[in-house]
Amino acid sequence: KNIWEVLKICAPMVRLAFRSLVRKFDCDICFTPMIVAPDFMCSVKARDTDHPLIVQFAASDAQTLADAACVVSPFSDGVDLNCGCPQRWAMSEGYGACLLNKPENQVDNPNYTASIKIRIHKDLLSVPVIANRDIKTHRDTLPLPPHMSCLVGVMAGRGLLSNPAMFTGYNETPLECVWDWVDLTTNQGTPFTCFHQHLIYMLERVSSQPERKVINSLQSSAAVIDYLHNTYGSKDRRPIINTG
Ligand SMILES: Cc1cc2nc3c(=O)[nH]c(=O)nc-3n(C[C@H](O)[C@H](O)[C@H](O)COP(=O)(O)O)c2cc1C
Repeated sequence: KNIWEVLKICAPMVRLAFRSLVRKFDCDICFTPMIVAPDFMCSVKARDTDHPLIVQFAASDAQTLADAACVVSPFSDGVDLNCGCPQRWAMSEGYGACLLNKPENQVDNPNYTASIKIRIHKDLLSVPVIANRDIKTHRDTLPLPPHMSCLVGVMAGRGLLSNPAMFTGYNETPLECVWDWVDLTTNQGTPFTCFHQHLIYMLERVSSQPERKVINSLQSSAAVIDYLHNTYGSKDRRPIINTG
């Protein structure tokens, strides 16, 4: 078994449109970005419908987390408690890594998957584990270290931001993926800033510096799409920038 024979997972950080993109390129499971459970309970607007989806919460008390899990369970496949967030605001609110000091605040056996995201520095692995950090290309096909026999998945964050097709085996973002992003964001009505920012990340390694300068300066989706047509070729021909 090597790490590419386990589940391929998109880290908690991105919204629906980008999750839809990575799912087209062999991502098995996506996590939502962290949602603060008490805020979610006050304004339960989010109803994303992509699957399989794990909803990540920040919570400082068990009841609020359990309530939030009940509300999202019809729309998701599991909940994850972020116990790894080291940011000062989260620690001061009692969220994130703080919860490790409160083991009594764990959800007790909900009817669907429950996980925690934590930082570990030792081989203390006797539960199913998803490994995360610095998985950047499909060349990271290391054999599993012996202490990782409980590894069930690999999770990528920044590697997918810069190449959403990484799990398919591309070493760099293929143009097909860029056009898929254009189609998805157009269909979903994604705001320009989100469309543009992700595109900048995706093209970072496959475009020249002058090209990046122009892309960064564009102010509308129409201008970006025109630029893509003119620079990288017609959408219909779908040439590949680099298949690795
Ligand atoms: C833009 C961005 C947003 C993130 N948001 C979250 C989050 O909401 N919850 C979380 O647990 N981790 C979050 N992370 C951390 C990632 O989930 C992941 O653990 C981290 O980037 C390390 O993995 P990587 O080396 O594959 O990027 C975020 C990372 C990035 C780059």
